[in-house]
Amino acid sequence: MINAIDVTNLNYSYPDGTKALDGIDIKIEEGEKTVIVGPNGAGKTTLFLHLNGTLKSQGKNVSIFGRNISEMAIEERIREIGIIFQDPDDQLFMPTVYDDIAFGPLNMGLENKEVDEKVKKALSIVGLEGFEDKVPHHLSYGQKKKVAMASVLSMEPKILVIDEPTANLDPRSRKELIKLINKLNKNQGITIIMATHDVNALPQLSDRVYVLNHKIIAQGSPREIFSDSTVLKENNLEAPDVFKLFKVLGFFGYDYDTLPLSIDEAIEELTKTIETNNGHIHLHIHEHTHQNIRDFINNNDHHH
Ligand SMILES: Nc1ncnc2c1ncn2[C@@H]1O[C@H](COP(=O)(O)OP(=O)(O)OP(=O)(O)O)[C@@H](O)[C@H]1O
Ligand SMILES: [Mg+2]
Repeated sequence: MINAIDVTNLNYSYPDGTKALDGIDIKIEEGEKTVIVGPNGAGKTTLFLHLNGTLKSQGKNVSIFGRNISEMAIEERIREIGIIFQDPDDQLFMPTVYDDIAFGPLNMGLENKEVDEKVKKALSIVGLEGFEDKVPHHLSYGQKKKVAMASVLSMEPKILVIDEPTANLDPRSRKELIKLINKLNKNQGITIIMATHDVNALPQLSDRVYVLNHKIIAQGSPREIFSDSTVLKENNLEAPDVFKLFKVLGFFGYDYDTLPLSIDEAIEELTKTIETNNGHIHLHIHEHTHQNIRDFINNNDHHH
């Protein structure tokens, strides 16, 4: 089977000598949702810039659907893989929103009418109908992020690379964006790879998680990664709030089956526990409760 993305032994140092990536191996199957987590400066953005050929390493380390990226023409590449940059100001450079979103389709050689349709469709997907004539530069950060997304969606790529999709979005925009990403993945089979610090959104956004800190430190399901407290601590990561809360409940004697990663899972877990315990949840302070909590807080609070 051909992978959507194959990264093999990718190394990269910036011209000033900063070593950003050290022997990266990542395989992503078509239709998978992958999240890359890691501290600031870990190399996530650097990795993404290699996926569409913005940055190039010495060797032939990146393949898209089995083809080496360095051997693909730009028109081919943008059909396969679209990257939404961390900073929308790096993405938007045209005088109007329309021009920015039309740029890709025009470069693919589409007729004006078709381009019009793609722009309309992309704007409606991100909920910015009527923004065609706005100046990208004047938009709010969240609006720019959506226009940047639309400027990639208008090319209908098979793989979407999204750098920090939820950063700086208000709760509603954030929720809508999570929904949109999942819809694109589920309904259109688009392969998604994201970087995020939004651990509360991560469980809904990923089949597989890679921890990157210049090297690949770990990979696994969200549950596997969040259960590894050493990996979390050593890489400035934390588990979702609800996961931590249930760990604390555990110190008060709550006997959980599995630690929930989301509110939905928490409701399921609580319901199950109540049903199997004659309608009650028993919590109590035992000999180790306070010590366990102190250890837990020391382990999780990076400021101490
Ligand atoms: N153009 C550049 N020239 C020199 N060093 C750079 C350049 N761009 C990034 N770096 C360095 O490369 C390293 C990796 O940066 P990168 O932006 O890939 O990290 P990141 O994981 O995306 O971080 P963040 O979570 O803050 O977005 C950092 O040490 C950064 O300072
Ligand atoms: Mg980054």
